[in-house]
Order: sequence, then structure tokens, then C-alpha cells
Amino acid sequence: MTRQNTNSTKITESPRSDAPLDVWEIRKDFPILSQLVHGKKLVYLDNANTTQKPNVVIEALDTYYREYNANIHRATHLLSAKAEKAYEEGREAIADFINANESAEIIFVRNATEGINLVAQTYGRRFIGEGDEILISAMEHHANIVPWQMLCEERGSILKVIPINDDGEIIYEEFLRLIGPRTKLLGIVHMSNALGTVNPIKEMIAEAHSHGVAVLVDAAQSVYHMKVDVENLDCDFLVFSGHKLYGPTGIGVLYGKRELLEKMPPWMGGGDMIRTVSFEKTTYAEIPNKFEAGTQHIAGVIGLAAAVRYVEDLNLDRVAALEAELMEYGTNVLTAVPGLRIIGNAAKKASILSFVMNDIHPHDIGTILDEEGVAVRTGQHCAHPVMQRYGVSATVRASLACYNTKQELDRLVEGLQRVYEIFG
Ligand code: ALA
Repeated sequence: MTRQNTNSTKITESPRSDAPLDVWEIRKDFPILSQLVHGKKLVYLDNANTTQKPNVVIEALDTYYREYNANIHRATHLLSAKAEKAYEEGREAIADFINANESAEIIFVRNATEGINLVAQTYGRRFIGEGDEILISAMEHHANIVPWQMLCEERGSILKVIPINDDGEIIYEEFLRLIGPRTKLLGIVHMSNALGTVNPIKEMIAEAHSHGVAVLVDAAQSVYHMKVDVENLDCDFLVFSGHKLYGPTGIGVLYGKRELLEKMPPWMGGGDMIRTVSFEKTTYAEIPNKFEAGTQHIAGVIGLAAAVRYVEDLNLDRVAALEAELMEYGTNVLTAVPGLRIIGNAAKKASILSFVMNDIHPHDIGTILDEEGVAVRTGQHCAHPVMQRYGVSATVRASLACYNTKQELDRLVEGLQRVYEIFG
């Protein structure tokens, strides 16, 4: 489809190749990767937590602050006009990136968590009432659990949870059984941060819609590993954070279908989200401004737009192919480590290797790996129920991005051998 361009800026398509990516070329774009940690070359495998930033993102932030820092929507001077143009071009770039119908459907928030809270506190409070049901899955992280629990407490609604099997996959028959006449919203993660499972969200969305159920997709983990197309998915809402997509922290995106965003009441009140204000009555701005109260994270949007353009130039299909090969390699080398058990073995899985090793505490493993220059995340990954489901207190998680290499996975395995020397 041709997306309506609500901004006068023309988005120019850069030529994108289908040839396999050269990871060594990509690595040159990320200055942080060449540093030493504890005297050893950094191996950064904590990408599901946050990714590193390419030069183009760092430079976009630097240029904004050095050359055209100003507030937007409020001033008549040149710097403000430049900043506003860059901000709205950023919105266009992101709409294009996820194939939204129009840029007004892109709301800037701090992160995926804030996007979900916005939907819970506006759509949820308006349309979900006593006895209504909200359906989520057992592999959600806290951001897609707690906002719904808060809403349920306030509204007397009921939270239902689709169970997962031992491999970390949705039990689809249970999903079909749980979705019913009282279900008002399905909140589902596209790709699990703790297990790596990629859910069949397109089918789930179609099923939910056949019951008149709205669907929010948490794409925080998927959006930097695979192409996410909101029109193709037909989701009602979708959220992601900029900092996992090679962009800055403190900026995230809520996508919503226009007809739903228009029906929702505003969330935060203040400047920019209003049309008129008097002490008797205030009227509100149209979307997207209705949901963007106060001075926005202008630099964040500019940096995120630079990140999106970078990823588009890489081409996410090529990134997915590169990471799939790496995942296969990583799974094989980790499986060969004695006493190591991978948590999450879904048939459709991407870029996350979560594991435990005998009864060695994951924090001890993480500390020794750090001494070896290998950065991983250890703990519960903001997903306590997932840990409970697998009967583990925590896991070690190595998570991949477009700049990781097989040699780095070998370094991870060497680090694990050192763990055995110490604890074995
Ligand atoms: N940032 C969190 C993670 O590491 C959610 O998965």
C-alpha cells in the first residue's frame, strides 16, 4: 500500500541490497565495540537489555545539540523550525519503518512500558469494565503484566493468562479456549525477552479480531531482529523502545490505529496536547499531539530516526539471516557445554540464548564472564513468572544483535569453561 504522507517531507528510499551482510563492516559503525573491558576485548551480548549505538545515531544527537537545539511547536525562530522539521520527519520515518498508514498514528513515549501504560490508562479505562477480561501470555515481561493488573484492580476486570509449554511456546488450544465473549483486549509479546520465542501473532490477531477483541503487540524485542509491519499484522496497538533498536534511551513508540486513538481520552495533560484552555473548559488537540503533553524528547526522536534509517539500510531481512546463522552456531556450542541447560527451545526462536548451568548461580556466572570481558544479563529479566514456570530462580542470558560474531560466542564458551574451573 502507499502510506499517506501527512508531512510535506518526501521520504527517499535508499537502495537496499539483498547480499548477505558483512558483520565486520557493521562493527566499524559501533565505536564502543572496540574497547577493552578488564583488559580484554569487549564481547557485548546484552542486546536484549539495550543495544549499542552506531555512529550515525551518536552524530545525529551531537548535531542536534550543537547546531539546532530548540523547543518545537512553540516558537517562530529558525532553530525551532529546524528542530520541529527533524522531529516530524522522525515521526514519518518511524511510520514508514513499521508501515503505519499515517504518521499521526505514531505517538512518542519514553519506552514500550510507557506505551502499554498509556493504552491501559486510556483505552483500558474507557472500554474495559467490571467482569471484562484481558488476555496475556505466560511469557510476558512485567511491562505487559503490571499495567493490566493495575487496570483490573481499579475496574474489577479479570486478567487471564495463556499458558506456555516446556519449550516456551504458546499453547494455542488454550489461547482458543481462553478467548471468549468477555475478552476485551489481548496483550501479546511478539518475541519473548527471556526465552526468545517468536509468537504467531498474525494468526492470534486474526483470531482475536474474529471475537471483536483489540490487540496490543509488545514488539520491544522483535523490532530490531525482524521486519515488523503493522498493516500486515493488523494489530490495533504496537509498542517498542528506541534504545533496543540502536537508538537513544528515553524514547519509545506507541502505534495505534487512528480510529482507536481518536476514541481514547488523553492521558497526561499539559502543553501541546490542548487545542484551547480556559478555567471553564479545555479542548484537546488531534492525534498525535493529544498524547504528547509537555516538551518531548526531541533529541530522542532525532536519534531514533537515525537508528531506523540505519537499520533500514542494513535491511532487517538480511539482519535476520545473519542472526539466524549466529543463533544456530550459539545453540550448538552452548549445548555442548556440560551441565548447561537452555531455557526456551521454541521452534520459532530468535537471538536469545537463556541458560542455567548445574546449580551454579547465574550471578556468579555473570561475574566471571564479566571478568573475561563478556557482557551478559543474569537474573529474572523482568519476567518473574517465566522463571517460576521453569522452576529456576534466574538464568544467564546471552542476546544477539547485528554486530555479534561466532568468535564472540566462542569467547562466551571459553568464559563458561573458566566458570567450571572455579565452581566445577
Ligand atoms: N530490558 C529488559 C530485558 O533485558 C526487559 O529484557
